[in-house]
Amino acid sequence: MPNVAVSDKKIEIVDACKEHMIYAETICHLIEEAAEVRETGIAKRKPSYIKKKMKDDKAVIALTGDCLVAGFCYIESWGAGKNFVANSGLIVAPTFRGLGLAKKIKEKIFLLSRKKFPKAKMFGITTSPAVMKINYSLGYRPVSFDHLTDDESFWKGCQSCTNYDILQRTNRKHCLCTAMLYDPDEIIEIKTRDKIEYEKESTVSI
Ligand SMILES: CC(C)(COP(=O)(O)OP(=O)(O)OC[C@H]1O[C@@H](n2cnc3c(N)ncnc32)[C@H](O)[C@@H]1OP(=O)(O)O)[C@@H](O)C(=O)NCCC(=O)NCCS
Repeated sequence: MPNVAVSDKKIEIVDACKEHMIYAETICHLIEEAAEVRETGIAKRKPSYIKKKMKDDKAVIALTGDCLVAGFCYIESWGAGKNFVANSGLIVAPTFRGLGLAKKIKEKIFLLSRKKFPKAKMFGITTSPAVMKINYSLGYRPVSFDHLTDDESFWKGCQSCTNYDILQRTNRKHCLCTAMLYDPDEIIEIKTRDKIEYEKESTVSI
């Protein structure tokens, strides 16, 4: 249910750029806070890293009319030839959860990723049922970890997760996250999703 205190606000979801760098600290704080609340891990990010994503046009931000950060997500690319892409750092501020905002943010970052890396396979690892549901609706399917990138720098990102010991002792075969993959060549009917004009739907009335 929409929070009454914010029921008259409109949230706009836009491709992030340099002018949004002022929100990097807040975004990191939101991610860190969520990691503390959840029993399972979320990899930590530094403000400088978030800023770089914004500068490189590889992020999407959701802002209220009075400039509160409602949500965020960014693009990572991995492997030789950037053949794997992940949408990471998804966060929705607690006040704005349960309104369909994460779904809209993920749709927008998905489209941006497909535009920037049309040949790449897209993947995600998550323990969040909400994120699994969103990924599934975008055409991702569950896969085992060996379907993901073997780029060491991706797996390094798991080191700050509280469950990293599990990943280590299973030789990177299993952990608490579910891996999901969108393969642009394999899932033919999903290709039509790229044609949907999410731009028109990039605001949420609450
Ligand atoms: C996970 C998170 C991003 C979800 O944001 P949100 O804006 O509340 O999600 P949405 O409202 O868009 O919900 C998306 C879908 O998941 C469903 N959903 C939400 N919570 C769910 C749950 N616990 N179990 C199953 N489905 C759930 C919603 O019903 C919705 O499905 P629908 O479109 O069929 O109605 C938000 O809770 C958050 O920021 N959590 C902390 C950070 C985090 O966990 N990030 C993900 C790391 S991978």
